[in-house]
Amino acid sequence: VKHSGLPTPPALAHLEDRLEQLRTEGLLRHRAVPLEAGALSFCSNDYLGLASEPLAVPASGPSGAGASRLVCGERVEHRKLELALANWLETEDALLFSSGYAANFGTVAALASADDRIVSDALNHASLIDGCRLSRAEVAVVPHLDLGAVAEALARPCAGRLWVVTESYFGMDADAPDLKALRALCDRFGAALVVDEAHALGVLGPEGRGLCAEAGVQPDVLIGTLGKSFGHSGAFVAGSQALTTWLWNRARPFVFSTGVSPAVAHSATAALGRARAEPWRRARVRANAEALRTLLGEAGFAIPGFGHIVPVLAGTPERAVQWASELTRQGLPLHPIRPPTVPRGTSRLRLTVTALHSEADLSRLVGALRRVVPA
Ligand SMILES: Cc1ncc(COP(=O)(O)O)c(C=O)c1O
Repeated sequence: VKHSGLPTPPALAHLEDRLEQLRTEGLLRHRAVPLEAGALSFCSNDYLGLASEPLAVPASGPSGAGASRLVCGERVEHRKLELALANWLETEDALLFSSGYAANFGTVAALASADDRIVSDALNHASLIDGCRLSRAEVAVVPHLDLGAVAEALARPCAGRLWVVTESYFGMDADAPDLKALRALCDRFGAALVVDEAHALGVLGPEGRGLCAEAGVQPDVLIGTLGKSFGHSGAFVAGSQALTTWLWNRARPFVFSTGVSPAVAHSATAALGRARAEPWRRARVRANAEALRTLLGEAGFAIPGFGHIVPVLAGTPERAVQWASELTRQGLPLHPIRPPTVPRGTSRLRLTVTALHSEADLSRLVGALRRVVPA
C-alpha cells in the first residue's frame, strides 16, 4: 500500500486498517497497469471503437475553458456539441457536463427536493444513487426491473413531486426496463421519467439513438455520456429548454466546475458525426455481441441479458479476481467487478464487445474463458 517508505500521517493511520480489511474481503483494488495502444481488450466501454481515434482538434482551437461556463468559460464548441446532440436525439436542447457521473449526480439532485419521492431501480449506477442522496428526497429503491414495485411506490401519497429514475441498458447486468410501461406509469401518477442511456446510446435503438427511441418513449430527462460509445469524456442531459436552463442555474457539478475542454467538445462533436455517418460501427458491435453470446452459449456458459455487455457471474470476489488475473496473464486484460459496484454475491467478469473486435478475437476470448472458468 505504501510506496515511498514514508510513514503514513497519524491522522490517516486508520486507512491502513481499512485497506487491510478490504484486502481480507477480496475487495482491494490496485492501480491499473496502463493499457498499451492497440492492445486487445474486452472490458472497455469504447463500443464503437472511437476512443482510439486521434483527437480531432482545429489547429487554432482553445484547449481549456478557463472557468465555469456561467462565468467566462462559454465557448462556441460547447454550444455546437449541445445543438448536435439535441438535433440527433430530437430534443429541444442539451447541456454538457464534465462526466456522466457529474451529469447524473447533478441532475437528480437539482431536480428532486425534500418533499419529493424518487423511485429508483435497485441496480442503478452509483451516480444516480448519489444524486438521490444529495437531493434529500425520499428514495424508494425498487427491486430491479420490478414494474409492480414502481407502481406501488408511485401510488403512495406524496407531499411533493414524483420521479422515476432508471438506466435504459443496465451497465453491469445487460438488461433493460420496459420503458413503455414505465412511461405509462409516470403519466398515470404524474411522475417525471429520468433515463440514463449511458450504455445504449451509439449502439442500441434506431441509428443508435438508444432504447427510449426504440420504445418510442420520450423521457422527461435523458442522460448520456461521451465517455463510452463516443470515445471521449464528458456527458450531457437532453430535454426541454426549461430543463437545461434549470440545470444551468442549479446543477452544482455544472455550476461550480470548469467548463468541458473546448478541444474535447470539438472532437466529441466530430465523434458524434462519425457515429452517425458510419453505421458499420454499431452493426459490428451488434453482430459481435450476438456472436460472442452464441459462442459462450455453445461452450456451456449461461449469460444473462442481451447485447454488447456480457456478464460472466463468479459470485465471490475472490473467484472474480482469480479469473480476471488468469485471463490477464493469458494476454486478455480483464478487471474483476466486485462490490460496491455490484451487490454482494454477484461479483463477476464484465465482458464487452466493440466494433473493432474480429471473429478471431472472440474465439480467443472464449477459448481462454473455457480454460479458466469452471463449467
Ligand atoms: C450507467 C452509467 N451511468 C453513468 C456513468 C458515468 O459516466 P462517465 O464515465 O461519463 O462518468 C456510468 C459509467 O461508469 C454508467 O455505467
